[in-house]
Amino acid sequence: MKAIVQDRFGAADVLQLREIDRPAFKETEVLVRVRAASVNPADWAFMQGVPNIGRFVFGWRKPRIRVRGIDLAGTVEGVGAGVTGFAPGDEVFGQGTGAFAEYATATPERLVPKPSNLTFEQAAAVPMAALCALQALRAGHVEAGQKVLIIGAGGGIGTFAVQIAKSLGATVTGVCGPSKVDLVRSLGADRVVDYTAEDFAAGDERYDFILDNVSNRSLADLRRVLVRKGTLIPNSGQFYHRRIGPMGRFMRAMLMSPFVSQTIHPVSSSANRKDLTAIAELIEAGQVRPVIDRTYPLASAADAMRYLGEGHVGGKVVVTVA
Ligand SMILES: NC(=O)c1ccc[n+]([C@@H]2O[C@H](COP(=O)([O-])OP(=O)(O)OC[C@H]3O[C@@H](n4cnc5c(N)ncnc54)[C@H](OP(=O)(O)O)[C@@H]3O)[C@@H](O)[C@H]2O)c1
Repeated sequence: MKAIVQDRFGAADVLQLREIDRPAFKETEVLVRVRAASVNPADWAFMQGVPNIGRFVFGWRKPRIRVRGIDLAGTVEGVGAGVTGFAPGDEVFGQGTGAFAEYATATPERLVPKPSNLTFEQAAAVPMAALCALQALRAGHVEAGQKVLIIGAGGGIGTFAVQIAKSLGATVTGVCGPSKVDLVRSLGADRVVDYTAEDFAAGDERYDFILDNVSNRSLADLRRVLVRKGTLIPNSGQFYHRRIGPMGRFMRAMLMSPFVSQTIHPVSSSANRKDLTAIAELIEAGQVRPVIDRTYPLASAADAMRYLGEGHVGGKVVVTVA
């Protein structure tokens, strides 16, 4: 099968299109014929082998898993003897291992039926970003009538967070660059702040919940625009330490949280059938839609990764496989 393989850590040049064997799948796994995959900052980090602390997981000197890609959509090709509920030909989406390839393995806990109103490309754009948005909003107990601030509202997580927060009945302000203002408004944001023209932290507005996908502001600046009992979720963002990544900021947030009236903690999103199904239901009900910025053929996966690495994606970048 064709796959995007890397033998060493580094910039996108390490990604090569090669012919390799189909992955062997265990009794407890499903083999998926990948139709599309999407690119996440996590793929970029695994490719680079950063932060260094992550090499305990990625592999110390070279990548432990040589084929990149986590988010996928496709059809079930094979089902392990211990797996129930899936049959060859089922159209699925979720997360797997080695999604930038014609075939990838996945555990059944991380796969659900593809929403009927989405193409494979659209479905592949959903999993990690939508799961992170949903799980962050839930961690903040966001409910109708609350004021929500989404920083990085035009990106992968942000575009889902704006829509899911609106579906919960919140009043949403999105912060993004000038090229994303119309997009974020079209997703339902009540107010959009173009960060090149206005400083969201300078005004009088106070928010019940803040999801920060960018990390370019101090925790003190963010706390200043959070109500007394509000919740701040700092996501890793672009500007992090090469050795420890966002851990320093996360540690500061968690150490501070017990001593202030506000709740401040990161979330670590994870794929599970219940949350993927909840997202699929929001999509089928027309309350949430994936936004695709660009699509690249499998052979150009390195270009997809370069584009994501520039840090100004609008929605998601998708790799089409077949
Ligand atoms: N906690 C978890 O489990 C989890 C899961 C997935 C991802 N993450 C992390 O969450 C972060 C965001 O992920 P993502 O997939 O949404 O990334 P993304 O798709 O690359 O989006 C980032 C967005 O931020 C915008 N941006 C850049 N500078 C900005 C600024 N100063 N103010 C407001 N927006 C700005 C960018 O475009 P414009 O500048 O054009 O607006 C872009 O749309 C990443 O650091 C990722 O590692 C965490």
